[in-house]
Amino acid sequence: MRVAVLNGVNLDVIGRRDPALYGGLGIRELEARIFEWAARLDVNAMCRQTNHEGEYVTWCHEALDWADGVVLNPGAWTHYSYALRDAVELFEAPVVEVHLSNIDEREEWRRKSVISDLAATRIMGKGPEGYRDALEYLARNK
Ligand code: DQA
Repeated sequence: MRVAVLNGVNLDVIGRRDPALYGGLGIRELEARIFEWAARLDVNAMCRQTNHEGEYVTWCHEALDWADGVVLNPGAWTHYSYALRDAVELFEAPVVEVHLSNIDEREEWRRKSVISDLAATRIMGKGPEGYRDALEYLARNK
């Protein structure tokens, strides 16, 4: 099973952001854990991170023909990017929306996700372990 894990804007600096919200791991440490969790589940994971919205959309397009499941943490784009939503609408493979923090319990503007209704499931507020849960969900539901 092939899973694309796409992290968006400002996820490259999560190690410098509030550890109470984001868990304190750097992006490379997070990706290393994702690869470990994926290997245990016999999942071939591809991890990418970008701060450029168009690049993120292009990676979604590339994942259309590659991935059997998709894990998306688009960062702040989650809350307003209709370009992202249009791209996510194209997926036939299941999409898991992941957020390190619980966006439903933060500022009002974070509570809206433009992709929430397109996600097979949403995992929020579990820190890095949310990605493990996302991989497990996809492996279980393949
Ligand atoms: C985030 C939550 C977003 O509101 C925020 O803009 C991020 C990270 C999370 O993982 O908790 O950059 O997606």
